[in-house]
Amino acid sequence: MTVMTNENVKLITNPVICQSLCTMRDKDNDSQNVRIAARKITRALLYEASKNLPLVDREVHTPLKTCIAKDIDPDIKIIISPILRAGLIFTDEAIDILPDACIRHIGMYRDEKTLKPVWYYNKVPMATPDPKKFYVYITDPMLATGNSLLEAIRLYADKGIPQKNIKCICIFAAPQGIELIHSEFPDVEITVAAIDECLNERGYIVPGMGDAGDRIFNTVE
Ligand code: URA
Repeated sequence: MTVMTNENVKLITNPVICQSLCTMRDKDNDSQNVRIAARKITRALLYEASKNLPLVDREVHTPLKTCIAKDIDPDIKIIISPILRAGLIFTDEAIDILPDACIRHIGMYRDEKTLKPVWYYNKVPMATPDPKKFYVYITDPMLATGNSLLEAIRLYADKGIPQKNIKCICIFAAPQGIELIHSEFPDVEITVAAIDECLNERGYIVPGMGDAGDRIFNTVE
């Protein structure tokens, strides 16, 4: 089920997502369970977010008859951009669902004092001769302050890709993060599974799930 909290924030919810969110939140669950739960959610979010992909008619020969069926326009370029490292949890599901997509990693870590993103990897140097043909899905399970996502969106928007073709896919979001993204990019749609209460003084989502990278990749010390 999709709950539109405003035109460009889509809260996706159903009982399986709720159950998976519980698993992710519960600090007593190990990484394997957290990853399985996360993947269930990412799949649902990816299906929802990819609703904007343009379709074309294609002639298909079934064993019974030739028919015209809808297919994703083969002329477009689909990009999945996971923000390292937690955003990687989306990639396996994303390339299963969108096999023609290319994966363009974005490496940013958060300076713990300033809470500002620090770049360390950028695989987004491509030319965009026809920017309207690009459809970008930036993935990060945690939309907290919004600073990293904002930088990632700028990277694509500066190449002329329309805001409507850029989407953020997150599992947990804080209201502040959503607000920040939409203050600069009101037409970038954000697809989420949970909108939580707030951020704490360290920029963590509350109640959230703690450090997503650590919980997913089993590096909780
Ligand atoms: N990043 C995380 O991993 N968790 C948060 O709560 C916020 C940012």
